Amino acid sequence: MNSTPAVSLAALKTPYYLLDEAAIVANMQIIARLCELSGAKALLALKCFATWGVFDVMEPYLHGTTSSSLNEVRLGYETFGNNSADINNNVNNQDKKETHAYSVAYSADEIDEVLSYADKIIFNSISQLNAFKGQAAAKNIPVGLRLNPKTSNSSFIIADPARPFSRLGEHDKDKIAAVLGDITGVMIHNNCENDSFEAFSASLADIEDRFGDVLAQLEWVSLGGGIHFIAPDYPLEKLADRLKGFSEKYGVQVYLEPGEASIHGAGSLVTTVLDTMHNEKNLAVVDASIEAHMLDLLIYRESAPIASINGEFMAIAPVNKDQVDDAVDNTIIYGRSCLAGDIFGEYALPSNLQVGDKIAFGNAAGYTMVKKNWFNGVNMPAIVIRRLDGSIDIQREFDYQDYKASLS
Ligand SMILES: Cc1ncc(COP(=O)(O)O)c(C=O)c1O
Repeated sequence: MNSTPAVSLAALKTPYYLLDEAAIVANMQIIARLCELSGAKALLALKCFATWGVFDVMEPYLHGTTSSSLNEVRLGYETFGNNSADINNNVNNQDKKETHAYSVAYSADEIDEVLSYADKIIFNSISQLNAFKGQAAAKNIPVGLRLNPKTSNSSFIIADPARPFSRLGEHDKDKIAAVLGDITGVMIHNNCENDSFEAFSASLADIEDRFGDVLAQLEWVSLGGGIHFIAPDYPLEKLADRLKGFSEKYGVQVYLEPGEASIHGAGSLVTTVLDTMHNEKNLAVVDASIEAHMLDLLIYRESAPIASINGEFMAIAPVNKDQVDDAVDNTIIYGRSCLAGDIFGEYALPSNLQVGDKIAFGNAAGYTMVKKNWFNGVNMPAIVIRRLDGSIDIQREFDYQDYKASLS
């Protein structure tokens, strides 16, 4: 790592992702409080965020990581936790961190390696369970199964684990009951950015109604991620009570798998305006790409919020897509890839953008850094970290050799 305390953000070459450790810790404190009040354990979902350069500040608050592949479970094992210097008072962290393994489908040639990193392994289907439970038993690794309740709180069909014909988990209670002897727990992930406690609680009640007798025979239940309890007005205590009651009723250790909640609001993508044009509206092209560097927004047809312009903090939400047509003074900020729709968003800005202006797009940590790609060979943003003491570290820079090496 290139740790240069004297680095100033103003001098940094764009584009770069900027992670703010203080903002991460603020989220961590909410998670730790939820765990303390409820008895639940929280595992960072590496699929959402895996920038291990900031794991030191997350470890004290979380109980471990969960994963969706061999590479992720290995990363969690290698980089997250078991550092006694991190122990703090918020969470009883005397225990070793846990490394949960899950994958939609494991291949036979990777399962032994997965098991060498895992403290628990969760299979997505009964057929995968049957194929690999022997190997897990031989290594004394507790086994779980993903349960699909066929109901969810997700406003996006693409992210809905309970979508019709979903492959994500088993739903047939009789079949699940028949393999209870092989498992000690289940994982249920059926929320997506759900900021309603009532909706969460109702859907948990539905799961209890339908699977309660199964739950009562388990030792642990992971309720996955997707609960937006990080929102300032979320009733955290109610959620904690609900989780505690659930855990006591069935005699299970509850796990949560927060991804987005762990790093919400803690990252931005800092870019520079390379060109401005006019085509009925003001247009600006920045030195990054939504498709390459904030792909999730493109997938979900969303726009990026602006966090600052030229270093001045000004939270500017993108203009609501239904209201944009007549707004000729608006500025559309484009990425520099050739994709016609490489659009960060349309904004009503206080003044027109100029070449050289620096735009920081907000909320650029979750499902963003893990999905970055080399489309068009566009420069890969560096990874820059504002440490808790305010110093700036350039954690990683990328160059032509990285691009070339990714291709052949
Ligand atoms: C099984 C599982 N756990 C946890 C998560 C993390 O969800 P979020 O980032 O919304 O908290 C996901 C997200 O897709 C998931 O599929």
